[in-house]
Amino acid sequence: MSEHPEALSAERLRMALGERAFQFLETTSSTNDVAQRWAANGAPHGAVVVAEFQTEGRGRFGRRWQAPSGTALLFSVVLYLAHLSILPVRYGMAAAVSVRSALIELLGLDPSVVKLKWPNDIQLHGRKVCGILLEPLWRGASLEAIIVGVGINVRVPLDELGLRAIATNLEPYCRAPIDRALLLADILKRLDFWSENAESSALFQTWRAALNMLGKRVQAADATTGQQIVAGQALDVGEDGALLVRTDDGQIHRVFAGEVTLQGPKVE
Ligand code: BTN
Repeated sequence: MSEHPEALSAERLRMALGERAFQFLETTSSTNDVAQRWAANGAPHGAVVVAEFQTEGRGRFGRRWQAPSGTALLFSVVLYLAHLSILPVRYGMAAAVSVRSALIELLGLDPSVVKLKWPNDIQLHGRKVCGILLEPLWRGASLEAIIVGVGINVRVPLDELGLRAIATNLEPYCRAPIDRALLLADILKRLDFWSENAESSALFQTWRAALNMLGKRVQAADATTGQQIVAGQALDVGEDGALLVRTDDGQIHRVFAGEVTLQGPKVE
C-alpha cells in the first residue's frame, strides 16, 4: 500500500468520479491491458482503469513506463468510435488537449509553460510531464474502440529512475499538493467533451495552438532504430495529425510517426 496521504482507493475514486464506470487496482501489469480486456467484455464508453502501480507499464514504441506506487496518475480510458471514419489520432489530440487544459485551469499552471510536443507528449518547462499511448481494439476486421492510456508524473523520483534530464513532475510547480482523484475527474470531464467533438475543427485548432515546434527546425527519427527520417522546418500539422516538415530543398514531407526533436532556433 502507498504511504502518501492522498493514496488512491476505490472509495476516493467513487467520490471523485460519480457515476462513471471504473476499476481501481493497487497493482496491475498495465492499465491498458485491463482496459482492453474490459472493453472486449462490454465496458461502457468512458470507462476508466486506474492503478497505483504497473509492473509492465508501457509507452510508445514499446518503451517502458515506470513510476513507483503513489507517485503518478496512471489510467486508461475506453472510447468507442462513434463511426468508422473517425481517425484514431483525433482521440490522442482529445486526450492531450484535455490533460493540458486541466493542468492550466484546475491546477493553475501558466499556459506558456505547458506545451505539447508532437504528437501528444505534454511538457512542463520543456520536460515531459505526461505521455499518452493510444491502442486499438479490433473486433474482427473493424476497429471498435481506442484505449487511451495516460501517465502523468506527479511526484516521481526522477533522479532514482535516471529521468531528470528529460522528465519533470507536476507537484513542484503547483501551489498545493495534488489530489490525483480530483485531477483525474477533471481530465475525464474534459475528455468526455473533446471525444464527443473529436472531428471538430475546434479540437484540431486547440491542439495545434499548443504545439511547441511549429516554425522551428526539427528532426524526425525512427524511434526504434534512431535513424533520421527527415530534418527541416516544422511548417504545420494536418487535420490527420501529420507533421509537415519542409526540407532545405523545399520538399514537404508528412510525418505520421517517429521521435521528433527540436534542432535549433526558430526559422522566420
Ligand atoms: C508515452 O509517452 O510513451 C506514452 C506513455 C503512456 C503511459 C501510460 S501509464 C497508463 C497507461 N498504461 C500503460 O501501460 N501505459 C499508459
